[in-house]
Amino acid sequence: MRKKDVTRRDFLKSAAVAAVAAGGARPVKASPAMLSTSNPGSTVHYGFIGTGTEGCSLLKQLTTIPAGRCIATCDIYAPNLKRGVETIGSNPQTYTGSPTEYRRMLERKDLDAVLIATPLSMHAQMVIDALNAGKNVFVEKTMYFKEEEGDAIRKAAEANSKQVIQIGLQRRSSVLYNVAMQMIRKGALGKVMFVRAQWHRNNNWRRPVHDPKLERQINWRMYREYSGGLMAELASHQVDVANWAFGSEPVSVVGTGGIDYWKDGREVCDNIEVIFKYPGGRKMTFTSILYNAHLEYNEQIMGDHGTLIITIGKGMYYRETVAKASNGKAKENWWAGATVTQQAEQKGFPLFPDEAGNQGFLDREMLYAKRWLASMGIYEYEEPHDPKWSELSNFMASIRDGKPIACPLDVGMADARAVIYGNRAVDTGNTVYWPKKEA
Ligand SMILES: NC(=O)c1ccc[n+]([C@@H]2O[C@H](COP(=O)([O-])OP(=O)(O)OC[C@H]3O[C@@H](n4cnc5c(N)ncnc54)[C@H](O)[C@@H]3O)[C@@H](O)[C@H]2O)c1
Repeated sequence: MRKKDVTRRDFLKSAAVAAVAAGGARPVKASPAMLSTSNPGSTVHYGFIGTGTEGCSLLKQLTTIPAGRCIATCDIYAPNLKRGVETIGSNPQTYTGSPTEYRRMLERKDLDAVLIATPLSMHAQMVIDALNAGKNVFVEKTMYFKEEEGDAIRKAAEANSKQVIQIGLQRRSSVLYNVAMQMIRKGALGKVMFVRAQWHRNNNWRRPVHDPKLERQINWRMYREYSGGLMAELASHQVDVANWAFGSEPVSVVGTGGIDYWKDGREVCDNIEVIFKYPGGRKMTFTSILYNAHLEYNEQIMGDHGTLIITIGKGMYYRETVAKASNGKAKENWWAGATVTQQAEQKGFPLFPDEAGNQGFLDREMLYAKRWLASMGIYEYEEPHDPKWSELSNFMASIRDGKPIACPLDVGMADARAVIYGNRAVDTGNTVYWPKKEA
């Protein structure tokens, strides 16, 4: 080991200690702190439709967001309604019974906003009704089910343009994903040509049903009347990442899939494999299988200068060993410090939220120190909040303070189109093309 290295490491160690002392770093396994956004003068009163699995996951986050207060919940399934009420704990009025009972809730004048986490086939009508009732709307991904619903939602949004509409693609609210996108824009990956994504599981994707009459209601994901299957439930998150990374919608998609393993009466595929083509020959591949969980889920964003491997809560950067610029000239090191560059080639570096800023010397050294600690397994970055907390806080802030929406209508529409066309490609075996954009 050269003396120069020892000195540098010693310095980094002390810089890292200083960073921790200054609160700039988080030791491994530390629990994230919750911030308060309370302003009791302008609480957003909201109602929640669909308090099932995802509904309760969102309600749990909402309990720590004082900018909003849940005053109503609606669900057709009594056990889930009860769970929702218990989760939020704000003693909301409940609406249940018929599938259109939510409309009675929408009649309430004291509701500023509505959040929707029902099965996919119900999203569009509920969104349109809520917008037309004058409510701000948060709707879970995938935003809509059938192609024609997109235009109907857009019309309702345009007719009620003062209201906020936000889509629940929570990666849009993740600090790490935003860092990744900044790195891409700043050229850390060079020319980004490929996104490879997978979502692999080893289970039947079913929920237990005690009364066979409830099979379709509880296992709605298995049936085409309500569900877009693996594309809508899983690929929707990842194709949105590709759209974001490429800064564009796809131009075409091919795909295949089938019900090849879980032959249990389901109507949606238990495996799909699709390739989206983007302008300039860029591509995204997505695979989802339900019979082997190896690789689980993440997105690998690949440029001619480096790769990002990212998922919720974790991102790694790998530099290409042979980094040739497309113009034939040697590329500049995007990373500060030759040792870091070398390590990024060998085993990668974790992403940190301060990665892509305009840094001065000291900031860069701190970051360098964090990377060094991370490479030793001493330190890891955790998102300050669950991205679902961030998206919901963002929703409240957009309503209350006019903050820009992290995941607006156009993003949700582009995502839903990719899901619908992806499924069409799998079903027909044909290449499906996006409509040509009007000049
Ligand atoms: N963003 C994410 O990470 C994420 C994760 C999981 C699910 N989701 C999305 O959330 C949505 C719901 O998924 P889930 O897993 O919670 O499903 P779920 O079946 O657990 O919950 C749906 C709830 O809607 C209720 N419901 C059905 N019809 C209704 C109606 N007409 N009026 C009122 N309530 C009604 C059901 O009784 C159920 O309680 C889906 O769109 C799904 O894609 C998003």
